[in-house]
Amino acid sequence: MDIIERLQWRYATKKFDPTKLLTKQKLHTLKQAFNLTATSFGLQTISMLIVSNEALRTKLLPAAYGQRQIVEASHLLVLCIKDHINTDDVDDLFNNVSELRNTPETILEPYRNDLKSMMTNMTQEQQQEWSIKQAYIALGNLMTVCAVEHIDSCPMEGFDRAQFDAILQLEEKELKSVLLLPVGYRAADDMFSGFKKVRKKLNDAVLEL
Ligand SMILES: Cc1cc2nc3c(=O)[nH]c(=O)nc-3n(C[C@H](O)[C@H](O)[C@H](O)COP(=O)(O)O)c2cc1C
Repeated sequence: MDIIERLQWRYATKKFDPTKLLTKQKLHTLKQAFNLTATSFGLQTISMLIVSNEALRTKLLPAAYGQRQIVEASHLLVLCIKDHINTDDVDDLFNNVSELRNTPETILEPYRNDLKSMMTNMTQEQQQEWSIKQAYIALGNLMTVCAVEHIDSCPMEGFDRAQFDAILQLEEKELKSVLLLPVGYRAADDMFSGFKKVRKKLNDAVLEL
């Protein structure tokens, strides 16, 4: 596989073929790619919702300013952040480390305490801003995995987050929506698929010192 060829192939798909669906296996690959995304301290304060329900996606359409990718794609991925981070989240991480790696608590304790104080010293807004950065990393990771797997996708931040949260009842899950990634297969007549990639010249984007 030539990774640059895969990245040239991908584009922000505007029109999906609604009859072409991702297999369970492809979907499983995307779930794992999301979960394998690196996060700061490994705290994973992000979640991914997979919305396949057509009626629900139609309900979301006005809140995505009518961008039909969200209903025509095979599945709609919604990247979310935790509404707030508390010491239980830090304990969940370190308990997992302890279980999976058998690391003694004497070694983990100082890191556990440091991370707890770091999280509790942040305002809720700072916590959310911090988690949003992690969501963007997951978005990039998913887009690349999609390209490698020949799955089309469209990264989207053009939607009303508060309306999405209300329609998807995210408050009860203590989550907030941040980014969308409809995934599936391009429609044969999506004119954007034939457009040349528009990018800066490599020497303008990458500076070598
Ligand atoms: C963070 C982010 C948000 C975006 N939001 C939207 C969006 O709401 N709707 C849309 O059609 N495209 C959206 N795009 C797609 C970009 O316009 C597109 O990726 C860019 O023009 C480069 O084109 P390419 O991805 O086709 O190579 C978004 C892209 C990124 C990375």
